[in-house]
Amino acid sequence: MTVTVYKNAQLQGCDKTTDIAVVDGKFAKIGGDLSDYEKNGNTVDLKGNLVIPPFADAHIHLDYIYTASLPTHETTSGTLFEAIDNWSDSKASLTADIIKERALKGVKMQISHGVQYVRSHVDVTDPKLTALKALLELKEELKDYIDLQIVAFPQEGYFAYKGGAELVEEALKMGADVVGGIPHFEFTREDGVRSVEKGFELAMKYDKLLDFHCDETDDDQSRFVESIAAYTYFNSMQGRTAASHTCAMGSYNNAYAFKMMSKFKKAQLNFIVCPTENCYLQGRYDSYPKRRGISRVDELTQNGLNVSFAQDSISDPWYPLGNGNLMHQLDFGLHLSHMMSVDEIKNSLKFVTENGAKTMCIKDYGIKEGNSANFVVLDEKNVFDAVRNTASTILSVRNGKVIMEKQPEKILTTYNF
Ligand code: FE2
Repeated sequence: MTVTVYKNAQLQGCDKTTDIAVVDGKFAKIGGDLSDYEKNGNTVDLKGNLVIPPFADAHIHLDYIYTASLPTHETTSGTLFEAIDNWSDSKASLTADIIKERALKGVKMQISHGVQYVRSHVDVTDPKLTALKALLELKEELKDYIDLQIVAFPQEGYFAYKGGAELVEEALKMGADVVGGIPHFEFTREDGVRSVEKGFELAMKYDKLLDFHCDETDDDQSRFVESIAAYTYFNSMQGRTAASHTCAMGSYNNAYAFKMMSKFKKAQLNFIVCPTENCYLQGRYDSYPKRRGISRVDELTQNGLNVSFAQDSISDPWYPLGNGNLMHQLDFGLHLSHMMSVDEIKNSLKFVTENGAKTMCIKDYGIKEGNSANFVVLDEKNVFDAVRNTASTILSVRNGKVIMEKQPEKILTTYNF
């Protein structure tokens, strides 16, 4: 039996610090008298630092990481659609080994920032399914470090790419966990709706979750989110479907957005917002005023819908920067969403932790007795300061084992005051 007692953990919403006993990789007892556990195990002093469940990145493209620097991938307009065209022209040159090596670098960055749950879209509009094979291998190899969900994502469409729908199905047979889609990229509105319908047909057939790239545009007439809500509701897939991006919602008129809120609630639709990516890619056809490219995070949250913030890209044709640090996404997301009251800031870590995990339908998540002992420690004592300082993750524990540890930042100055 392996026993560790983590002392002086500052949990969210608690006035005082708490001691936590971990036995054989599970949370055995949280708070109270842990002296029996201390007699039989090790102790680690967390010194009053903030202890939270691991970060969950519900939307990234691990197969695209570090492709921004290839000359053929340079996107000069900063638009989504030029990036897709560039990717289409050059992706055949990538091998499974290259993709795997780069994805691994990305995962290492994520782990260094306390991420333990990752949903990666993988482009399956490739007859060889090269990236899918690479990511399926990586998923197995990294299972002790991260939960990796793979989305069968047809970057170039179910129908806009000939054979796209068949490749999505093949990817599901090979082991992809989630059905993807990109209805706003299909040729016509009708094809977009048809792609949503096809996605649901496949999800039902293979018992998979769904996550569509949805309305990633400033076009206020892009309304595939209503189709996704309807198919979710009528197929009883509540809670199992996600709409990623939904940037157009920032441009919808209020009458339409208000009507849709009740439909979203009936569908229990999960929303994934990518703050840095979409404020970079959207607003590109505006002069001034320029739109922010972000969904209605505040209104969705006020209506009880589940919203998470995600990284989306690390240095690819869609976005040149990115480092896997979800505290950075949280910082941007709160600013862009005007969610900066003291209470909103104090309650904001959910956007990069539990809300992402809920979208991914992770069952064994959270700091609760009986759950797997997965948690991270931040280099701050309370949530407000953690958000204000985009706090570093200094310890990441998974199944009771340390998978990442960092020295807290020390600043040496010559100031004399
Ligand atoms: Fe994406």
